This record gives sequence, C-alpha cells and structure tokens, in this order.
Amino acid sequence: MAIIGYDIQAAIEWLEKGEVVAIPTETVYGLAANIFFPEAIEKVYKVKGRPASNPLIVHVADIEQARRLVRFFPETALKLAKNFWPGPLTIIFDKSELVPVTVTAGQATVAIRVPDHPLLLQLLQSYNKPLAAPSANPFNYISPVTAEQVNRMLGNKIPYILDGGRCKKGIESTIVAIEDEKVKLLRPGAIAAAEIESVLQHNVVEAGKTGLAHPGMFKQHYSPNTPLLLVEEITLNLLKKNSGKIALLLYNKYCSFHDMEKQYLLSFNAQPEEAAWNLYDILHRLDAHGYDLIIAEKMPETGIGKAINDRLTKASQR
Ligand code: TXA
Ligand code: MG
Repeated sequence: MAIIGYDIQAAIEWLEKGEVVAIPTETVYGLAANIFFPEAIEKVYKVKGRPASNPLIVHVADIEQARRLVRFFPETALKLAKNFWPGPLTIIFDKSELVPVTVTAGQATVAIRVPDHPLLLQLLQSYNKPLAAPSANPFNYISPVTAEQVNRMLGNKIPYILDGGRCKKGIESTIVAIEDEKVKLLRPGAIAAAEIESVLQHNVVEAGKTGLAHPGMFKQHYSPNTPLLLVEEITLNLLKKNSGKIALLLYNKYCSFHDMEKQYLLSFNAQPEEAAWNLYDILHRLDAHGYDLIIAEKMPETGIGKAINDRLTKASQR
C-alpha cells in the first residue's frame, strides 16, 4: 500500500524520481506526474487504465505558470482565470511548444487549472513544475474524495498519497473552451455555468460534438460497480418491479415506502453544494455494501445540480 502523509517534500522527491503521486485538490484527488517526464506521464495512464486518447489536465500554481504553457491567453480566458483561479475551472488553450503531446493525447490544445487547495498550492509553488493529473480512480470508476479511497483503489500501484483531508467540493472542475472569445461548456462541474455567465455578462454555450478528445466522449463514466438506475421520481411501482437489495440515493427527503437504513440523502438541507460534496463519498460507501441496485433520484438542475445529474447519468449507462 502507498504511504499516506502530509509531507510536501516527500511528494516532491517521488515526483522528481519520475513517480506518480496522489494529490488532494478542492474537487477530487488527482494522480499527478511532472509533465516533463514522459515515462511518468505514461505511468499515469497505466495506473489508471486510461485510454491514450484521453488527455490530462495540467495543474499550475498561478496565471504566470499557465502563460508559459499556452500559445496565447485570450482576453476572456484571462477574465475567467482572474475570477475563478485558484478554483475548480479548467480552461482549454492552444498549447505552447513546452507542453509535451504525451499530456495532451496528441492534440494541439492543453487543459489547465490552478487548484484551490492549500497543500497542493504549496507543493506547486515549491516544486515549480506543472503537474498533469487526472482524477485518482481506475478509468470509468467513481472519483475519490479522501486519501483512504485513493489508497483502496490504487494504493498498490503508487508510492505516496499526499493527504489533504476530504475534498471540499467533491465533484470535478468545470471545463470550458474559448472560441472567438465565446465560452463553450465541455463538462459541467463545481462552478455553475450561471456563475461564469455573471462574470462574462454573456451566455455560455453548450459544446456540440467535435472530432477532438473531450470530456463527453465516453458515454459511461464515473460508475460504481453496482448497477445504478437514474429516475425522475421514485415510486412504489418501481421498487416493486425491482427485486433484490436496493439502495435509494435521494436528494433531501426520505421515501416513505422503503427501509430507512437503505436510504441515503445527499443533502439534509436541500443544498446542491452539500449534495455534490456527498455524492462520490456516498457512492463509494454504497458500492462497498453489496447492493444489487442503486436507484438514484435526479437532482434539481440548479447550480451544481447540473454537474451532479451529469455524473449520475453517466454512472447509469451500462
Ligand atoms: O477537478 C478536476 O478536474 C480533477 C482534479 C484532479 O483536478 N481532474 C479531472 O481529470 O477530473 P480527469 O482526467 O478525470 O478529467 C479531465 C477531462 C477528461 O475528460 C479529458 O477528456 C478532458 O478533461 N480534457 C483534458 N484535456 C483536454 C483538451 N485538451 N481538450 C478537451 N478536453 C480535455
Ligand atoms: Mg476522471
């Protein structure tokens, strides 16, 4: 199993040796490698079992570090970066020559963000190297929000997990691309489109299909091993139709016709942020319980609720 610790210097030493280290962020834990070490990047793909066609997000300490990695910093991107960094917003840029294509899966663009986690920011500042990091879960599985979850899933494949406590957002970053100063939403995430719109004073557009690699290219993703059914509303008929040990994943209210101990609320106070914070943590626990089926109720689409529904929809695909 990996060593779990708080030692930034130890994490840097492993990274400098070309190893892959798990890092905390405000969204989910990441599986990090120095972008300038091709073998380390290769290890990231191997440890995760991730297809080589799926590019990685690069994490940097600040806007200045990001500038070196991009060919051009669009005005709109600068506005977003100044408003949301450090924070859960990933921006796609045309990459500079410095960024190896191993990180971008051969594409001419690079995804960059400045994460908002004190321990990781300290690491990025003192190491002064960009870190490529996908979420620290096996490909297609649920993202981890604690060091222990990383250890259970990947502890036998990596030397060190930097423990930054439980991730405060609990859901991945929002990913946007900028074309002709227009902002396209590639993945809903911890920052709602409405927050971006209020900064820009114009609308964010949904990304259409492109031939390039993007977060929507895999229909199934973020999935527990237990089959998951996503429904608008949980009804008695539905529960009767399905046999076996069923868990209910609910927004803020219990269901009166199912065993209480098999019901899991994402938020007691009907707070979408609280629901996002609980989502992966509860899914990890549910998966360990040996249920035959999880029936999840759709969340209200407001704010971060859209990202939660996106993850639940992908988790329900088989
Ligand atoms: O919150 C997060 O974003 C977490 C933490 C660790 O930072 N990271 C994360 O990484 O969710 P990952 O690899 O699990 O998801 C990154 C997504 C992938 O779906 C990938 O297709 C997309 O970002 N992506 C990366 N580079 C891209 C690019 N150049 N163009 C379009 N999409 C890109
Ligand atoms: Mg992921």
